[in-house]
Amino acid sequence: MKIVVATGNQNKAREIREIFRDLDLDVVTMKEEGIDSDPEENGATFAENALIKARAVHALTEYIVIADDSGLIIDALNGEPGVYSARYLGYDTSYHVKNANLIERLSGVPEDRRSARFACAIAAILPDGTELVTEGTMEGIIGYEEKGENGFGYDPILYLPQFQRYSAELTPDEKNAISHRGEALRKMYHELQRYL
Ligand code: IMP
Repeated sequence: MKIVVATGNQNKAREIREIFRDLDLDVVTMKEEGIDSDPEENGATFAENALIKARAVHALTEYIVIADDSGLIIDALNGEPGVYSARYLGYDTSYHVKNANLIERLSGVPEDRRSARFACAIAAILPDGTELVTEGTMEGIIGYEEKGENGFGYDPILYLPQFQRYSAELTPDEKNAISHRGEALRKMYHELQRYL
């Protein structure tokens, strides 16, 4: 059985392949399947947006479909940038600018009110239309400077107190073991086992 990932991103496909390796599933990206899909992500939550992406591809294939949506939630900013994380200050704005802006917006906010987390929702749709959603988070605080060269996006500003390091200072393996996406994917792996 094939599982089509609703992304062109090979890194996401690779991570899914690793976590799902015990399942008898061939993980392919939608591009590899010749599917082109870019629905408007107008949901209010990560789960809604993951489902929007999964449903759009489900309409175009008979295989299992999996989609994700993720972002950064900053409590002191009422959850911003949230579902707008990729669009925050514009898609094409560099993450150095986005990160510096968020640190600036938190200036004067004490450490005990700088809590934040990466959140991820994974949606899967089975060939019969059954919809499954799992979620994961990675908790931290927004630091006072950007730090670390690994990862991407907002990794340089999320400080992880339990590791005493920024997310961008973790190796890929260290991050996958604790990340929001890893947690949501491992939960989905267990959900799918009940159906396959
Ligand atoms: P998505 O690809 O539509 O889910 O957009 C997720 C956005 O959230 C990315 O563009 C990043 O800005 C942010 N994001 C999600 N996960 C991470 C992460 O692990 N590290 C850093 N930024 C992340």
